[in-house]
Amino acid sequence: MTTKALRGRLLRFVGDPAELGAAARRYDEDGAILIRNGRVVAAGDARLVLDGFSGDIVDHRPHLLIPGFVDAHLHAPQTQVIASYGADLIEWLQKYTFVEEQKHAHPAHAAACATFLFDELLRNGTTTGCVYSAVYLASAEAVFAEADRRNMRMIVGKTMMDRNAPAALTDTPKSGYDQSKSLIARWHGRGRQSFAITPRFAITSTPEQLEAAGALAREHPDCYVQTHLDENHREIEWVKALFPDSEDYAHVYERHGLLGPCSLLGHCIHLTERERARLAAANAVAVFCPTSNLFLGSGSYQLARSRETSHPFRTALATDVGGGTSYSMLVTMREAYKALMMHGERLPADQAFYLATLGGARALGLQDKIGSLAEGAEADVVALDSRATPAMAHRAETVRDLDEELFLLMTLGDDRAVAATYVMGERLHARGA
Ligand code: GUN
Ligand code: ZN
Repeated sequence: MTTKALRGRLLRFVGDPAELGAAARRYDEDGAILIRNGRVVAAGDARLVLDGFSGDIVDHRPHLLIPGFVDAHLHAPQTQVIASYGADLIEWLQKYTFVEEQKHAHPAHAAACATFLFDELLRNGTTTGCVYSAVYLASAEAVFAEADRRNMRMIVGKTMMDRNAPAALTDTPKSGYDQSKSLIARWHGRGRQSFAITPRFAITSTPEQLEAAGALAREHPDCYVQTHLDENHREIEWVKALFPDSEDYAHVYERHGLLGPCSLLGHCIHLTERERARLAAANAVAVFCPTSNLFLGSGSYQLARSRETSHPFRTALATDVGGGTSYSMLVTMREAYKALMMHGERLPADQAFYLATLGGARALGLQDKIGSLAEGAEADVVALDSRATPAMAHRAETVRDLDEELFLLMTLGDDRAVAATYVMGERLHARGA
């Protein structure tokens, strides 16, 4: 039995600040987390938590301790696609992404990129992600193996695509189904790993493949479904032409049984009124990918509209590496702030931090396991340094309260602000080490 404690300025959420205001968060200026066998035994005021404790204490003061970040959408085979110059989504996919992803047929390359990816996630304080592999079994295997080796809670899917892509980057309805099935048997529920049924998007799957994906979802209702929806106007027109019988883009997924409470829908920028209602009725999740939406000129996610009482649905936040331009959820928060500002929406710092922690966990149905640091939860923790750079330290001199500090962190912070990252209580990243 291993027991340890982390000490620092402890911040976590118990609800959504957009609904509860200040009551949504708990803060202990001198806080501590007591961890036994990777789980939180107690978290709160250090005097209470550490009373009578005589084991190891890692003192992170004056840094903040918060739950590890949740990145709800990223692509493992795009670590060498990131920062590729493209006119829009379709050009970017065809010119760079579909070329680079073919290299992930080779197990050694897939493994090397997975190692890089998980190092990078940890350096940025991200402890859970929803990851697309390439179309190849070897690619999904490499991602799962690396996540499992580090004991990180990950949701991983083998991308299914059987048309409108280079032949070498396609599967078939049957092979996509069979390989997904074998990955579910091997990885879903093993350690901290979960499987996501992953038809890339409506353009690259035939109706037969979407049917096969729907069959997987019916047969494995505890698996996730991840795909893309309403990202780009040209994409939406193409989907219309491919599925003339569908009422809209979301209906393509819906009619194949792919819209449910475990469905994670990347982007959701150009949703129609009907689609909003269908997402809400299905209790599906929209995934907001601000750096990618800006980089590919796709448009702006409407966070306020996702909260409309007529048809509210959950939103998660994500980097969408490599359409996204940063692995950092801090950077992602600030770009979310700016993207929303462009159409007159605000994103207060506490809401941004909620989205990247408990909000993400709730979107994945994992709120009892991660995102809260509640008693019994898995001890995935990040220590954040609000004075990480000269510009941050200089600005920090005039910060008056926690909200201002959080806003400083999300506006100027990046991987340099991550002092340490813990996975199940184990320190897997220490800045400068
Ligand atoms: N739509 C289908 N595939 C992709 C992808 O890899 N990235 C983004 N941003 N959108 C997609
Ligand atoms: Zn994506």
